[in-house]
Amino acid sequence: MIKGFIFDLDGVITDTAELHFQAWKNLANDMDWEFDREVNEQLRGVSRMDSINIIKEHNAAEISEEKLVELATRKNDIYVDSLDQITPKDYLPGALELLTHLKREGFKVALGSASKNSTKVLQQLDAAKFFDVIGDGNSVSKSKPAPDIFLFGAKELSLKPEECIVYEDAEAGIDAAKAGGFHAVGIGPEERVGHADIRFDSMAEATLFEVKSHFASLFP
Ligand code: BG6
Ligand code: MG
Repeated sequence: MIKGFIFDLDGVITDTAELHFQAWKNLANDMDWEFDREVNEQLRGVSRMDSINIIKEHNAAEISEEKLVELATRKNDIYVDSLDQITPKDYLPGALELLTHLKREGFKVALGSASKNSTKVLQQLDAAKFFDVIGDGNSVSKSKPAPDIFLFGAKELSLKPEECIVYEDAEAGIDAAKAGGFHAVGIGPEERVGHADIRFDSMAEATLFEVKSHFASLFP
């Protein structure tokens, strides 16, 4: 039976992808690196250091590990400053309603994000109150597609993976959920999250009613 839900943050609860893009673009311009929205798509759900390595390889740049860490920190400073503009109006359509609904029905809820900035994002949205457990980039060392972040969330909720549904918008996030033995709801296009147990184009469609209908045998 389903007793809990684990949510990715960026692209599921709120859309920070544009802010990540602007911050990486800013850094890339400084470095004279090529960086566009297509490359940015590859960074969805991927950790900060893995992201900068993808950008480095895209540019065939030769750069020391130490310098890469410094550049990733510079990008993060820009990104964190930009988070000040997020307000409780910036939930993705349907996300606030779903979180409210889950709390009302008594489900346990965890965050399972790759971001080390999740606390700040949740604070800006006034969303911390919906989560019993916060799992983020600071909670585990192996990032998605490894299942560790979701296993952390389930353990902290005292649930088994098969008792949890994971909401994810990233290919690596669905891989992580499946690798951990979770039920997976994909948010986004078929080519990105088509390997989820069920897929919706947006959070607005991924209501508790729809999810309960799909996983009917797993709900009382
Ligand atoms: C994920 C985003 O949620 O967090 C990625 O989808 C991002 O794009 C990753 O790189 C790490 O975020 P942060 O805030 O720790 O740099
Ligand atoms: Mg995401």
